[in-house]
Formats: sequence, C-alpha cells, structure tokens
Amino acid sequence: MDPNRLKGKHILITGAARGMGAANAEAFAAQGANVCLGDLDGDEAQAMADKINAAGNGKAIAVKMDVTKREDNRNAVGVTVDAFGSINVGLFNAGLNKPRFFMDIDEDNWDMIMNVNTKAMWLGMQETARQMIAQGPQEKPYKLINVGSIASRKPLVDVTVYCTSKYGCLALTECGALGLAEHNITVNGYAPGVVVTPLWEQLDKDLVEIGFKEREGQAYDDIVENNLVIKRVSYPKDIIGTASFLASDDSDYMTGQMISIDGGWVTK
Ligand SMILES: NC(=O)c1ccc[n+]([C@@H]2O[C@H](COP(=O)([O-])OP(=O)(O)OC[C@H]3O[C@@H](n4cnc5c(N)ncnc54)[C@H](O)[C@@H]3O)[C@@H](O)[C@H]2O)c1
Repeated sequence: MDPNRLKGKHILITGAARGMGAANAEAFAAQGANVCLGDLDGDEAQAMADKINAAGNGKAIAVKMDVTKREDNRNAVGVTVDAFGSINVGLFNAGLNKPRFFMDIDEDNWDMIMNVNTKAMWLGMQETARQMIAQGPQEKPYKLINVGSIASRKPLVDVTVYCTSKYGCLALTECGALGLAEHNITVNGYAPGVVVTPLWEQLDKDLVEIGFKEREGQAYDDIVENNLVIKRVSYPKDIIGTASFLASDDSDYMTGQMISIDGGWVTK
C-alpha cells in the first residue's frame, strides 16, 4: 500500500465500527487519509479509531451516530470538519439485512431496512454534499461513495426488501451523480456479493430460521456452487482495493458508476 495515496483526504465512513466499514477505515488511514468512523456503536467505533491511531499514518476519530437521523449525519460531518479542517470524501456504508419471503414482509421489516440502507444514504449524501458546497470549489472533485450490493442488480427471493433498498442505492448513485455534478462532486459506489462479516454471519442464521436453508453455512456453499464465477466467498480485504481507488484521485473522471466486487455473480 502506498502510504501517501490518500494524503489530504478527509473521509467520513458510516457503519465503520466493524465489517467492511472498519476494514476500509484502516486501509484508508494506512494510505494517509484522515478518517471519521461513524456508527451506532460509538464504543466499538472508538476502539477501531484507537487501533488505527496506534498503527500510525492517517488520523482516526469516532462519532456515535444513527444514520437514519438527519441531525446525526449533520453532526458527524461537523465532527469530521472540526477535527480535520474539511471533508472531501463520504463513504456511506452502514447497512443491515433481515430476510423475509415476499408474503411475510411487514411494515417493521420494510421500514427498518429501507431507513438504514436507503433513506440514510440519501441523508448522508445530502448533508455531506451541503458541507462540500459550503467549502467552495476545489481543484479535485469531492467524492461520495455508496455501498450497494449484488442485490442492487439481481432479484433475490429471500430478501425482497434488501433488494429494494439496494436498488435504491444504485439509483441514488446515478441520480446523485447527475444532481451534484455542477458542484464538482462525483458519486460512485461498489457492489459486493458475499462478504464474511457480522452482517452475513447473522444472515446465515436468519436464513435457517425462515426455512430458506437447512443448516448454517449452506447459503455460503450454495452461492459458491451456483452463483459465483470465482469459487469462493469474499472477505473485507477483497473490498478495500476498490474502495481505496474510488476515494483516490485515480477515479476523478468517473461518476455515476457502481463497481461490482462479487466474484462474477452479476454476470451469471
Ligand atoms: N456482508 C456482505 O456480504 C455484504 C454484501 C453486499 C453489500 N453489503 C453491504 O455492505 C455494507 C457493510 O456491511 P457489513 O457486512 O460490513 O456489515 P456489518 O454488520 O459488519 O457492519 C455494519 C455496521 O453498520 C452499523 N450500523 C447499522 N445500523 C446503523 C445505524 N442506524 N446507524 C449507524 N450505524 C449503523 C453497525 O453497527 C455496524 O458496525 C452494508 O451496506 C451492507 O448492506 C454487505
């Protein structure tokens, strides 16, 4: 890793206490970025920030936030700017899943997933863009990065609401790119497939509970067998290269794109 590739980048990452958000925070700081780790779990986010600071290079701070609340997004942006002087990249990563078959979806399931995965992404993008616009023009584009999913592009029978929410993330990426271009803000994203994180470990259990799979681990095995071109699941370390590219100057001439990092699932 080039320790200077992300020097001068001041990055807010939502959902950064664990999983892919935490891995990206570590990778960005290792490349010289200053990172603000926003999460519902403020203590775990702080512990991750401490770990990053102990490793040296870019600085890390943490902020407790509920991404579904506009004031928390505004506050997290403010905390980032207070600490680092400005914000030039936002990574909207917080997300969750709770599988249900179509006829079992209720309002609670719908609202929980749509609020965290989609509404909160819009709020985070808007509050971050508001600050970027207030900071005024800069030579390099400001960058918003959205986390989508294979579920942004493929209908999956067990997770209709998650698919709806992640198709929404793709729409926010494409519409945001159009709507924010005049402010020199690019909007891109990436779409993982199966990444072994606490989210997927819970999902694996939930899929047994709703009767979609017979045993824990079966979902991983079935997806590798039936859906993936590269015959293995992925880990957060498989994601950090693409996320770093999108945060870096190397992606300056891109906007409105969502890059699949899914072992080829989207092409099958
Ligand atoms: N794991 C996968 O296979 C996979 C695949 C495709 C896309 N994704 C997406 O990647 C992103 C990260 O997923 P992950 O697997 O690392 O998940 P994870 O559960 O490991 O981490 C998600 C983080 O988001 C935080 N969070 C949840 N609700 C929040 C809220 N209301 N406010 C603030 N923080 C909140 C959690 O506390 C947690 O730290 C999500 O958007 C997810 O949908 C995951």
